[in-house]
Amino acid sequence: MENKAQEDEHIAWLEKLKNKYDNSGLDTNTFLEGLYWAKPINYWDYIEVDTLLSLQKPRTVLPDESVFIMYHQVNELLFKMILHEIGQIASEKDLSAEFFSDRLNRISRYFDVLTSSFSIMKDGMTREQYLKFRTTLTPASGFQSGQYRMIEICSTDLHNLIDARFKEKLPRISSWEEKVDHLYWQAAGKNYETGKKTPTLRIFEERYRRKFIALAEEFEHKNIWRRFLSLPDAVQKDEALKKAMRHFDRTVNITWVMAHYNSARHYLEADGEPKEATGGSDWKKYMHPKYQRRIFFPGVWTSDELANWGCDQPE
Ligand code: HEM
Repeated sequence: MENKAQEDEHIAWLEKLKNKYDNSGLDTNTFLEGLYWAKPINYWDYIEVDTLLSLQKPRTVLPDESVFIMYHQVNELLFKMILHEIGQIASEKDLSAEFFSDRLNRISRYFDVLTSSFSIMKDGMTREQYLKFRTTLTPASGFQSGQYRMIEICSTDLHNLIDARFKEKLPRISSWEEKVDHLYWQAAGKNYETGKKTPTLRIFEERYRRKFIALAEEFEHKNIWRRFLSLPDAVQKDEALKKAMRHFDRTVNITWVMAHYNSARHYLEADGEPKEATGGSDWKKYMHPKYQRRIFFPGVWTSDELANWGCDQPE
């Protein structure tokens, strides 16, 4: 009986396969033969372990540089997972409160991991070694993480990423170019009076500027904030969804920012005077959330919360 049931299931699968390949104008037998000759899969090929482990290439003789490289690589992988979830929210046709909050909570969990794991960096490399190997990395900086910027661009309107000092003055309908020139992160590498940019910012823009503008255009109507606003009022009021939006905004723009800022202080300020960062920013001013005032979802906060953004965090 079981054999008969198995046989029927087998035939049903063959039938489905045949339909699938017939519909694509392809020959089922060729695919079945391909299956016969295919190599069995194993863990190391599937996960690409050898490739992954071949990507750590220190530039100095200092052993803690490897911690620095690998931790940044782990961060970039998590950034990719975050972008993957944002993509799901952006492209979902029947966006429900449940689907939306589930995906937002996934992203927040990734950012929570990024935040809590900063100690891998802060307590995992000696300051002495860091201050030596970082000279070899100048002018490279985490500031140049393209994926980090993509997360920002896909999360909210580009207007919400404009430097707080220019936000009121710059009309909402200015060109993409103008907006990009006034993004909050320009402040890390640009003298607004002379227009002169640091090599860190200049090289970064050469590599990514066009890509960021194309992405901002693509996500203009489907970034997370826009998708939230496109939901019916009743869904926007869903408590779990609102909580997930607030958690995301706070984790990315205050909690992670503070963990990062505290690491920078640990390495760049331990003996009083702040040292210059590899990216050359006035980092003490630039990195604190109360100066950056980066807020993805302004509508989910009260006016008091907006006015005091990041002010409860120590400098
Ligand atoms: C030793 C640990 C770290 C120190 C001392 C540090 C320091 C800094 C400083 C000073 C800046 C400001 C730009 C500059 O002048 O370079 C910056 C920006 C940045 N770093 Fe780090 N960082 C560290 C670890 C990390 C890690 C692990 C990541 C994860 C990829 C990261 C990602 C970023 C990003 C995305 C920015 C731009 C943030 C923004 O524009 O607000 N950093 N970092």
